Amino acid sequence: MFQGPLQESILRRAQDKGLAEIRVHDLRTWTHDRHRVVDDVPYGGGAGMVLKPEPVFEAVEALRHGPESTVVALTPQGIPFGQRLADELSRLPHLILLCGRYEGFDDRIPQGLQALELSIGDYVLSGGEVPALVVLDATIRLIPGVLGDETSALTDSFAMGLLEHPHFTRPPSFRGMGVPAVLLSGDHQAIARWRRKQALRRTRERRPDLLARTTPSDLDQELLAELDAEGVAMGGSEETTR
Ligand code: ADE
Repeated sequence: MFQGPLQESILRRAQDKGLAEIRVHDLRTWTHDRHRVVDDVPYGGGAGMVLKPEPVFEAVEALRHGPESTVVALTPQGIPFGQRLADELSRLPHLILLCGRYEGFDDRIPQGLQALELSIGDYVLSGGEVPALVVLDATIRLIPGVLGDETSALTDSFAMGLLEHPHFTRPPSFRGMGVPAVLLSGDHQAIARWRRKQALRRTRERRPDLLARTTPSDLDQELLAELDAEGVAMGGSEETTR
């Protein structure tokens, strides 16, 4: 599950540049029985299997770099992972990501290892592997030097607390759909203003929860008032190329 994603694109580049080192381990390495069992039935009964504490503790004890290491457990019961946590994790020297399988971890695992329990969203995946890859990707791309263009991580959605404005590239007319004329005007101030306004529009339409968490600047309030006047709910129109 890891080799494909870890060997492509940004994660690959970060490792090639020596900015991140990622190792994948199999918990069965730290079992001692013939069948290399890592799970067991839940106390109290019920469906599914629970990840046993012994191999996980042994794994963490073997892999830990003392107090430098932060243990993260991926579980739907964790706190929500988001851009702010990605930023915090990207500044840490060593992470150990624990992927649950089956019904989850014996609760003494996160307790005893003082793990940070993270969820990547309100849905249940079949294991913590894909969530671990999500956390790795979101985190590693923030390490300075990983992205070619240093500004792009900063202006990404959520880094600014808003969704991003829409993007366009050539051709100027595609299947009857044009491009906002302002983007071709060469007027950088007008373009910046348009982008901010579109970011506010999108955020208000799609993620009002994000907008409620930010304090709008004077310019933002002005742009929001303009959107109100244009009747955003009805889908305001604007000049486009033909
Ligand atoms: N394991 C299974 N589902 C998960 C989720 N949504 N987040 C983190 N770990 C998980």
